[in-house]
This record gives sequence, structure tokens and C-alpha cells, in this order.
Amino acid sequence: MAECVLPPCNGLQSALAPAGLEAERVADLLGILFGGGALIWLLVMVAALYAARTSPGPGTEAAARRFIVWAGAILPTVILAALLGYGLALMADLRSAGENVRIAISGERFWWRVRYAAGARERDWHETFFTDAHAAGNAVVDTANELYLPVGERSELFLYSPDVIHSLWIPALAGKMDLIPGRVNRLVLEPTRTGSYRGVCAEFCGASHGLMAFDVRVTSRGEFDRWLEARSKPAHVAPDDDGYRLFLANGCAACHTVRGTEANGRVGPDLTHVGGRATVGAALLPTTRENLKRFIMQTTHLKPQAQMPAFDMLPESEVEEIARWLEQLQ
Ligand code: CUA
Repeated sequence: MAECVLPPCNGLQSALAPAGLEAERVADLLGILFGGGALIWLLVMVAALYAARTSPGPGTEAAARRFIVWAGAILPTVILAALLGYGLALMADLRSAGENVRIAISGERFWWRVRYAAGARERDWHETFFTDAHAAGNAVVDTANELYLPVGERSELFLYSPDVIHSLWIPALAGKMDLIPGRVNRLVLEPTRTGSYRGVCAEFCGASHGLMAFDVRVTSRGEFDRWLEARSKPAHVAPDDDGYRLFLANGCAACHTVRGTEANGRVGPDLTHVGGRATVGAALLPTTRENLKRFIMQTTHLKPQAQMPAFDMLPESEVEEIARWLEQLQ
């Protein structure tokens, strides 16, 4: 595909600037369909002009019938069959098995629960989704609203939702795949270019459907391993830290886990390394102390129908302390 120069095509979230094998195929398919459609349109226009300017002469009826059979029946059948075959071949390719990285993603209202599980086999995924994997002793790494992928390797995503249907779409990397309650869908990605990209929810799921995006980072294998290793570590928390004390005292731990502390809630996003993530609120705001504070105090204003209540009843100084503590959880 030609380089896209329009403002929305900065590459962050564009299917026209593919950075993955699957997105490249989708872009190629778009090019072929668009080019083929334009060519057929031109042929039809030429035929129409010709018909309008030619006066019928003797013996033209048989020729006309031949023209209708060839151009009106045989040619479209051949073209559509070829396109169908091409499309089916692409689909088979998109679904071949991925080996290297396995990631479970659950669509929540309205954010993304992301779980890396080294070495888990496909049949383990049910357990990984539905049980507390940490209690079960599995080696998993939980995070939220961020997805790291090694470049040039196939990553296999297992997609699930506990309640409503979402659709995961990283336009620069691949096509969409729905997250449906009661089943696990697979999506295989093979990024071809390192960089930062943006994923979104592509299926209306509630008031904050448009506010559940996530950051995608495609890195070298070394950088990916270092990131996963860092994310697998528990948080370093001083038990007498004021922010931590307030976090527990105000009930945050009922919904949020911070590994290495008493906080082990399973409802909301894992916050073990929340300060090290690029954004808060599912790619809503850049991670700064001020934005953490805003999100805690104005949750339902920033994110309508979010399941977390706004903690605007707390004194601002206490929210400030909690935000400071969260920010240093790198
Ligand atoms: Cu989730 Cu739309």
C-alpha cells in the first residue's frame, strides 16, 4: 500500500499503515477489492457509453446475447470466485497456531484485563480465566490496559468477557475479534515493526464503550522479556506508607490487587505496577499523579457507568496521598 499522508494516519491506530502480518493482509485485500472494483466500474462505464452511442444494426442480436453471457454471467462468476478463494486463503492463514507468547484478555466494563501466562497450554486457559490463578500457583503476570508484544513472533490472544460483548481491535496489527461471554475466542498477531500502537473496543458495550482503549508496545524480544520480568515482580511497599494505609482504609483493596501487599481484590485492574503504565483509565489519561487523583475523585464523570464509584467524599489531601503512592508503583 502507498504511504498514507492524511492526518489520522499517523500509524498509531491505522489499518492503512500496517505494522503486523495480519494487518498487511487486510490492507492488501482492501487494495485488491478497491482496485478490482474500480476496474470493473470503468469497464461497465465504457460498455454503457458504447451502448448509448451505437445504433443497433442487422445481426447484432446474437452478438448481444454472447456479450451478456460472457460479460454478464461468466466474467463476474470467475472474478467473484477468485476473490472468494483469495479471501478464504487469507482466513486460514490468520488462524494458524501461535506458539511464542500466550495472553489472556478479558473485556471488562470498561477496561482490559490482561494476563500473560508462560507455558500454559490451551486447555489450561479455562482455569486461568475462571479461577484465581495466583492461589492455584500458576506462573501468570497480571496487568491491565497495556499489551507488550515481541516483534517478528506470533502471539496468541485468548479473548473472553464476563458479561457484555466487546471487540478487540488493534488496527495497525490485525483485524477485529469479539470477546463473548461463555466462550474463548483466539486471535493470532505477528507484529512486523516495533513501535507504539493503540487498540480500541470495536463493539458497543455501554456508556464508556468509546473510552476503553489500550496501549500496545511492539518491542525486541530482549526488551519484551525485561518488561515481563519487571511486571512479574511484586510491588515494594513500606507497610507504614501513608498512601498505602489510606488505600487499605478506604476499601480500595476490596477490588484491586497490589501484589506483595494485603490488597488482593479481583474486581478491578491489578495495580501492582500502575505507575509504570503509560495511561490510567484504559488509555484515557497519561499516567501522572494529578491524573490518578482525578480518576479516583471523578471516576464516574470521566467514565460513565464504570463500576468503580467516585471517591469524591474523601478529603483531597487523602486522595493526593493515595495518588502519590500509586504513582511510585512502577
Ligand atoms: Cu467494550 Cu465497546
